Amino acid sequence: MSIRRHRIKDILQTGTEGQQVTICGWVRSRRESKAFAFLVLNDGSCQATLQCIVDQGIPGFDLLGRCQTGASVRIDGELKKSQGKGQSWEVHAKKLELYGEADPETYPLQKKGHTLEFLREIGHLRGRTNTFGAVWRLRNALAYGVHEFFQSRGFMWAHTPIITGNDCEGAGEIFTVTTLDLNKVPKTDKGAIDWSKDFFGKHAHLTVSGQLEGEFLALSLGDIYTFGPTFRAENSNTTRHLSEFWMIEPELAFADLEDDMKLAEDFVRFLCGWAVKKCPEELAFLSEMYKGLTPDDIAKLSESKFSAITYTDAVKELEKASVKFEFPVKWGIDLQSEHERYLTDHVFKGPCIVTDYPKDIKAFYMRQNDDGKTVAAMDVLAPRIGEIIGGSQREERLDLLETRIREMKLPVDELQWFLDLRRFGSVPHAGFGLGFERIVQYLSGMGNIRDVIPCPRAPGSIAF
Ligand code: 4AD
Ligand code: MG
Repeated sequence: MSIRRHRIKDILQTGTEGQQVTICGWVRSRRESKAFAFLVLNDGSCQATLQCIVDQGIPGFDLLGRCQTGASVRIDGELKKSQGKGQSWEVHAKKLELYGEADPETYPLQKKGHTLEFLREIGHLRGRTNTFGAVWRLRNALAYGVHEFFQSRGFMWAHTPIITGNDCEGAGEIFTVTTLDLNKVPKTDKGAIDWSKDFFGKHAHLTVSGQLEGEFLALSLGDIYTFGPTFRAENSNTTRHLSEFWMIEPELAFADLEDDMKLAEDFVRFLCGWAVKKCPEELAFLSEMYKGLTPDDIAKLSESKFSAITYTDAVKELEKASVKFEFPVKWGIDLQSEHERYLTDHVFKGPCIVTDYPKDIKAFYMRQNDDGKTVAAMDVLAPRIGEIIGGSQREERLDLLETRIREMKLPVDELQWFLDLRRFGSVPHAGFGLGFERIVQYLSGMGNIRDVIPCPRAPGSIAF
């Protein structure tokens, strides 16, 4: 016999009076009286639960005592309009089956109101709570929205490598990939590690960004985007950093910084509108629970223009600020999260785009501005979170790019293929990276980025 079933989400949307249904899910609660009992089930398909009435005498009634919170069951029954408050449908069970019990002494999700810290320790079960059900569904909807946005605009999804030999951001925050025997690491005459003896014949690591490979795909296909896992060995234990996160990196051929900013703004606004359309219940629940953006706030965001300011003007704003920053501001510093937050929360009261950063705090590939001091970079900052997008117009002029690579003491020989893109049919082009977890965090209102990815990887933490 097949155990195909009806999802609670579908039943609530398209159910009809008297429909025969099969519900499979986990017991959220059980209430018993003499002749019958209520089992409230959730199956993960939506925020809502479905109440099932189990009458004495139906097959399986004797199992009821073992259907405790957390147990998994199957109920075949009839859908009926509910008389009770707060629910539209209920199921009158004709048969109850028990798949798996959950011992009330040891099942950790017995009581409501666990802390997020505790739930992080039981990451394998936390998806059964209202909070994490909502976050995982929102995450899924946004991932779908990413493809919808780009595909409907003619961008091609490009798969860039996970194991690579180049450090795109040049920050050295890389996880080495090796098969060398760590007890007998081969050394060169000079005492350095001899990577030529390693699996790839070269020092390999997990990618920090698909951008460099994305550039060569854009410079043959036009407009592309990547959407994949990215790894950074930053030793920062913050509520905004993960060691493994997902990034979306569009790359546009024949485009400048203005086109890039427009795309970034359209993209974020689209995702806001998409989230409201696809996950209204999840957003309503999360905003109530965690006091983040309400569905109305998010809908408004999807319609409002982002403010833009140059880095130089942003520094002037920060210097004028009456608050005292922990990290003092002067032209040339990298903006810290306290500065970013001041701009979004106090100056603009919403997301903003900061452009034209000093070249010395940005990556080698960014296009130099005529002032000789700044580059055509842009970061999108969101209230509470800070940077959600980092991007730039790329340096398409061979001589300037090569000079910059040398100035920054990067391995010019290994970047010859990247320079080839400027040697042969170079075009103005631009792109950016959106940290997927940062936008999920922004829209869900979750305070800690570890609560918007099922298996968070962070320094000292690799459970599951
Ligand atoms: O600003 P980043 O470092 O830019 C790049 O990697 C460029 N190659 C992107 C491009 O132009 N194609 O990173 C982009 C975004 C950040 O704005 C942030 O949202 C996210 O990636 N990010 C992180 N998210 C979570 N944990 C981390 N450790 C992150 N580091 C960056
Ligand atoms: Mg950045």
